[in-house]
Amino acid sequence: MAQGANPAAGEVGSSKNPSQVGVTPGTVAAAVPAAAAGTTTADPAAIAAGDALFKGNCAQCHAVNEVVVGPALAGITKRRPMSWIIPWIKNSSKMVAAGDDYAVKIYNQYQKQQMPSFQLSDAEITSIVAYVTSQEGAKPVIAVADGGGAAVAGGGATAESADASSMNILLIVLVVVLIVLVVTLVIIANIMKDVLRGRKDLDGRDVEQMEQRFDFARIYKSTALRAIVGVVFVLAVLYESVQGAMGVGLSQGYQPTQPIAFSHKLHAGENQINCAYCHTSVYKSKSANIPSPNICMNCHSQIKTESPEIKKIYRAIERKQPIQWVRVHNLPDLAYFNHSQHTQVGGIECQTCHGPIQNMEVVYQYSPLTMGWCINCHRETPLNTKGNGYYDNLVKLHDTKNGAVPFTVSSNGGTECSKCHY
Ligand code: HEC
Ligand code: HEC
Ligand code: HEC
Ligand code: HEC
Ligand code: HEC
Ligand code: HEC
Repeated sequence: MAQGANPAAGEVGSSKNPSQVGVTPGTVAAAVPAAAAGTTTADPAAIAAGDALFKGNCAQCHAVNEVVVGPALAGITKRRPMSWIIPWIKNSSKMVAAGDDYAVKIYNQYQKQQMPSFQLSDAEITSIVAYVTSQEGAKPVIAVADGGGAAVAGGGATAESADASSMNILLIVLVVVLIVLVVTLVIIANIMKDVLRGRKDLDGRDVEQMEQRFDFARIYKSTALRAIVGVVFVLAVLYESVQGAMGVGLSQGYQPTQPIAFSHKLHAGENQINCAYCHTSVYKSKSANIPSPNICMNCHSQIKTESPEIKKIYRAIERKQPIQWVRVHNLPDLAYFNHSQHTQVGGIECQTCHGPIQNMEVVYQYSPLTMGWCINCHRETPLNTKGNGYYDNLVKLHDTKNGAVPFTVSSNGGTECSKCHY
């Protein structure tokens, strides 16, 4: 779903907008049994037909128990009557435009993405719903927090809490079983002692051993116990400090407050402004630049001119002072990273490294930016060699030597120290 914005393609923004509005169910004209529209039947034939229709038309955006692009459909018959569901699937934008409360609410919740219209019959829609109902609760809902979209993941919370409570019950049962075991062992030991006491052929040492009590004081004083406690303590401290040291310089999730409440969600998301409209050098040079106030003024000389946040831009220009944006991503100086190599040559989407920027009100560091992170991707990613004459001979050479292995960045030397270190 992460889409970049390659200016070469001449289109704006990182939209997730489906291009195929008005899909026909042509591919899956499954024989739909004439289930009476308006009721959900549990007829296996209807479910099978619904399964095929769902996979052919809906599965790219929906799952039953999971939020994908659109909401999880589990529990839809409890949320909405069939008299709502059928017109929604036939033409959701009409219902949004008509101002249906629920339709408008869910449309806004999912970042105003339009669900395509489907030319399905009432019976076909009924069979899809029957299929959805039959799959409900098949596995626990993972409420993917994708830009606030998870809010309507119906039934998610209940499935999770049901899971948690069954874990608790399991734990309680285990504890009870353990107690029963201990009690039984003590009883058995006492019975055996009684039996032994009845015997006459025991000598002094046997008796002493038999009558031995569990002596806490002696155990407490024993060097063995102290040694064990000491070792455990030292290990715990070591583990903590190693963890701490590993975290030094790691700033994944770093999200500073910026001097102006600039929102990527509003600009790159809702208004679909191309990343490179502002980060003009990201496809051309090593660094992606942060836009100067002039770029903001292309629009904000007209838009929201009275907003106090926008007035901060005017003030910066009047005073000829740059806006003091707080830097989010920062590699140490010993490492070399080049944007154009990755975005233009490698064809990697911004979102692969920066995450769902188009959904962020405030930018945060999405990736760890560690050396291991860079190298892992270089090992796994095949080189984007198509239409790049530079690679033709290298690819030929690679294929004759070990054609079975993909030609990755690392096969081309992308894990050599000197590539990333000055
Ligand atoms: C291209 C993506 C896409 C496809 C394909 C798609 N949907 Fe949706 N659907 C969405 C989105 C996004 C929403 C959330 C509302 C909105 O933004 O319009 C949604 C909402 C819904 C809802 C309301 C869910 C709720 O929890 O209230 C139903 C029902 C639904 N879709 C059914 C279907 C069915 C059935 C199909 C297949 C015939 C389908 N959708 C195909 C994207 C899609
Ligand atoms: C309207 C202009 C504009 C657009 C469009 C835009 N950005 Fe930005 N971007 C900014 C500004 C201003 C900042 C600095 C303030 C901030 O961090 O929010 C920034 C900061 C960033 C940062 C953090 C930089 C740092 O400090 O490390 C990243 C990463 C980023 N943008 C990526 C993107 C991506 C990816 C897109 C496209 C999906 C995009 N931007 C679209 C203006 C824009
Ligand atoms: C291509 C046009 C465009 C550019 C360039 C642009 N913006 Fe915007 N900006 C908008 C639009 C559209 C809105 C939404 C206005 C609305 O909500 O009615 C907006 C809203 C805002 C808001 C929210 C204002 C408020 O009070 O609601 C801020 C802050 C903002 N922009 C800052 C910036 C900054 C800083 C830059 C330069 C880095 C920038 N914008 C560049 C189009 C743009
Ligand atoms: C392969 C991973 C990767 C991709 C793809 C990527 N970036 Fe970056 N980006 C980084 C790293 C790493 C940094 C930190 C660079 C540094 O500190 O020298 C960074 C920093 C930035 C910055 C802060 C300014 C700078 O250059 O340090 C901006 C803005 C930015 N990226 C925007 C983008 C945009 C827009 C795209 C898509 C067109 C994009 N990035 C694609 C990894 C990536
Ligand atoms: C998402 C995957 C990905 C990540 C993460 C990534 N790279 Fe890359 N990198 C690539 C790809 C793909 C290429 C090859 C581009 C091409 O030349 O076709 C590449 C190429 C390079 C090259 C040029 C290698 C050569 O053989 O000339 C350097 C240097 C480099 N990356 C540095 C880094 C650094 C430093 C980081 C971490 C901060 C990083 N990369 C993170 C995918 C990635
Ligand atoms: C694909 C890029 C890449 C390659 C190849 C690479 N490094 Fe790094 N290296 C980085 C980045 C990025 C950092 C900084 C991030 C960090 O500290 O984790 C780094 C950090 C380091 C550090 C400093 C660690 C620290 O914690 O400060 C050392 C030392 C180092 N690399 C050695 C090497 C050696 C030796 C090789 C060759 C075997 C190598 N690197 C190959 C990207 C790379």
